[in-house]
Amino acid sequence: MPTKKIAVIGGGTMGSGISLTAATNGIHAVVVDVNEVQLSKAKMYHEKQCARAVLKERMTQEESDVAVSKLSYVSSMQEAEGVDWAIEAATENVAIKKKLFIQMQDTFEDSVVLATNTSSISITDLASAVPEAEHRVIGMHFFNPVPVMKLVEVIKGKKTSEETTAATIALSESMGKIPVPANDFAGFVSNRVLMPMINEAFHAWSDGVAEPEDIDSIMKLGCAFPMGPLRLADYIGLDVCRDIMMVMYEGLNQNEKYLPNEKLVALVEAGNLGDKSGQGVFNYEKG
Ligand code: CAA
Repeated sequence: MPTKKIAVIGGGTMGSGISLTAATNGIHAVVVDVNEVQLSKAKMYHEKQCARAVLKERMTQEESDVAVSKLSYVSSMQEAEGVDWAIEAATENVAIKKKLFIQMQDTFEDSVVLATNTSSISITDLASAVPEAEHRVIGMHFFNPVPVMKLVEVIKGKKTSEETTAATIALSESMGKIPVPANDFAGFVSNRVLMPMINEAFHAWSDGVAEPEDIDSIMKLGCAFPMGPLRLADYIGLDVCRDIMMVMYEGLNQNEKYLPNEKLVALVEAGNLGDKSGQGVFNYEKG
């Protein structure tokens, strides 16, 4: 049976994007976040994007109103009633995610798939937090900005059932995405390839190979990247980049090639996290 109503756990950038993409494709989405500020930011983002879609003639006013009506915002999982799917899109932290998985298992019906948007953490490890529901746990990794990026990286854990996998592929497609499988290694495929490239751009900057603007220009003009690697790091969040590198370092035999660059770590420790804090490698305070 097609998925009709999903709970999106976390109203940050990824949660907002996933819920908007569901709603614009006819699926009810309940955004769950304990942080009221985050919830109202998600709502503002949804309304702005739906209004923009009308302005750009990608949607009629009526379609936009329908999409907005399919979105709701609650501060606890218990308030997300009647959902047939749950996707966790919280901070990239194993302990936080495991706690949320236990809550998801306790709250939602036994038939509900428990998906995670983790960008690097082992699905099998996360699933071990909910032994009775392991067959219903799966990685459903979206990309930022979710409404624009076509991919969903689909990662099965050791005990994920074929039924859960087939349903994940079907839901991804009904959200207008292209699901592609990857195996359950730290960082999967996307970040195994992307993050060392971003980290290497930091090494190039640290070694004085070029200034950040020039590193980015070289990669944009020479490799047709839509954003240079350092601009992309700010866009993803420098803290997220550092955390993903550490998950890969720990998860891939503590191979030193996955240690985050010192400049990257120093920026994070100084609170310069990229777009979201107004300062990262580049400054965004003046937009
Ligand atoms: N939400 C919805 N739509 C958005 C958006 C957002 N946050 N940001 C941009 N868009 C839309 C815009 O509305 C615009 O569409 P219209 O022209 O129809 O209005 C379209 O995208 C293009 O946007 P812009 O004209 O503003 O800017 P652009 O052409 O420079 O594109 C970009 C912006 C799509 C972000 C592009 O720069 C890009 O593709 N960058 C690379 C992004 C990327 O690599 N993402 C993956 C990151 S890794 C990840 O997410 C996973 C992980 O685990 C870390």
